[in-house]
Amino acid sequence: MSATALRTHRAGELSRAHLGQAVRLGGWVHRRRDLGGLVFIDLRDRAGLVQLSCNPDWTPPAVMERAASAGAETVVLVTGTVALRPEPARDRELASREIEVHVTDLEIAGPAQTPAISVARKDKEELAAEELRLRHRVLDLRRPELQQNLILRHRLLQRARRTLTELEFLEIETPILTKPTPEGARDYLVPSRVHPGEFYALPQSPQIYKQLLMVAGYDRYFQIARCFRDEDLRADRQPEFTQIDLEASFVSAEDIQQVVERILVDLWAEAGVAVARPFPRLAWRDAMERYGIDKPDLRYGYEIRDLTPLLGGDAAPFLADVRTAGGRVRGLVVPGGAALTRKDLDALAASAKEAKAGGLIWARRGSGAWEGQGVKAAGQILLDALGGREGDLLLAVAGPDAVTSPALHAVRTALTRRPDVQPTQAHAFTWILEFPLFELDPATNQQVPAHHPFTAPHPADRDMLERAPGQARALHYDAVYNGNELGSGSIRITEPALQRRIFELLGMSEAEIRRRFGFLLDGLAAGAPPHGGFALGFDRIAMLLSGATSLRDVIAFPKTTTARALFEGAPTPVSADDLLSLHLKRAEE
Ligand code: AMO
Repeated sequence: MSATALRTHRAGELSRAHLGQAVRLGGWVHRRRDLGGLVFIDLRDRAGLVQLSCNPDWTPPAVMERAASAGAETVVLVTGTVALRPEPARDRELASREIEVHVTDLEIAGPAQTPAISVARKDKEELAAEELRLRHRVLDLRRPELQQNLILRHRLLQRARRTLTELEFLEIETPILTKPTPEGARDYLVPSRVHPGEFYALPQSPQIYKQLLMVAGYDRYFQIARCFRDEDLRADRQPEFTQIDLEASFVSAEDIQQVVERILVDLWAEAGVAVARPFPRLAWRDAMERYGIDKPDLRYGYEIRDLTPLLGGDAAPFLADVRTAGGRVRGLVVPGGAALTRKDLDALAASAKEAKAGGLIWARRGSGAWEGQGVKAAGQILLDALGGREGDLLLAVAGPDAVTSPALHAVRTALTRRPDVQPTQAHAFTWILEFPLFELDPATNQQVPAHHPFTAPHPADRDMLERAPGQARALHYDAVYNGNELGSGSIRITEPALQRRIFELLGMSEAEIRRRFGFLLDGLAAGAPPHGGFALGFDRIAMLLSGATSLRDVIAFPKTTTARALFEGAPTPVSADDLLSLHLKRAEE
């Protein structure tokens, strides 16, 4: 041990291998117990905990006194010797530790006020409310669970970098002060002081830059990219988040999918989970038909079927209306579901109605009698046609696909959350291919890009752009895992004329096209290789692999669902003078 080292080991690293060694440690007082002249401290650092034992037999009186005064979360520097613990481990967190440190010196290096939230929790003690924890983020970040999450996040990032480097991708940074890149959200704008009335936008993604890097000949690019989107936040979204962003030239969609599969397999391996490639592939249309959603959770069966052709016109009076309006009856069989109680069925019906269905049709055959609601008379025919047996349950919804798909997805999801339902596999990856190029924005009734406007149309659907743009498929693909969209990508448009036509179809004037995307069109006109790419939502991956349930648990300083940073208190008002220097004025002034 060097005479000057403040620390020789991390607390959590010590083991039997260190028995008898003199060590210096630095860490936080996780817990202190004073027991009749003895002081025990659980010392914590990022590697874990170790018990410090202060005993007049080996600890000088002045050190005993300092140890007895060290409050929770105080930083101490400790010198001692590693020894076997005499008594059996007392608590869960230290249960695996056979050793302790006999303290010969202890210094208070960083006194701590009484912590506003507790870092060391007693067994089963609930976490403080999240808002309070976000306000006291530094304390909350000391929690071993969060430290493990951020350590895993670091390892995943390094693994992604390694894999992409092995695959000859170059890590290239793109600007943060940029021109707007549309990804379907609002931009965060930054006023320019030196150019009055002009603004930068923070990137919603590096999309245009990575395409320009392909045009510039860099061939394979990646970036651990911070993206900014001013959107209404949901639990699985943050206003700033991280993507593993990549782009490659002279590739097909399949080539990109293989790269992404390799990254995902490596990331899952880094988290200790072996998964197999290739992932199954499902066309968007089939995903919507069979699961009612473009990110199906394939850990479970419950495939949706079209029941319309199986039903006679007289199965139920309302069915004629549904059919006339172009609707269908779609449903799924729940094996063993006949045992569900009326309360269970009501709960499933409630989830269908929450997703805007008129109601949930059900039919079941218990031992003997038939029971059902909606298409009572047809229940037996349907269940038989679908291969259902005694004890099974049929659930169905009638209406246009825009109603039945989300409703049956909701029913399926509710079923999978039932405690008695076991997944058929733990890790279900899938590719969703051939998304539509456009979708109708219900607010404006305008065609908008289903993803971004740089996505190439499917070559077989090129002529539909003019005839029926809403039906054109795109060379767009999403990677889905257990019902979560991990990322998305596409082959890009490289012909300037086609890119211009897409902008026109989106309702942009020539002047607007030039102003917003002139630099992209000029780039494409400079000799663009065929290219495509992908972006993985990295926070989401870190959340899933760490077992966290919120993105906030894998981001060091996250925002709330109202986009506030509670710890540092952002955003903040600025003074009228500051606004003036940016050539801005508040609207109400
Ligand atoms: P997209 O917009 O689908 O594609 O984003 C890719 C992935 O990023 C994640 N993600 C988010 N994660 C947390 N908070 C958010 N607000 C958020 N928004 C998106 C999702 C998503 O699948 N430029 C294209 C990619 C490409 O075409 O190459 C893009 O950004 O996991």
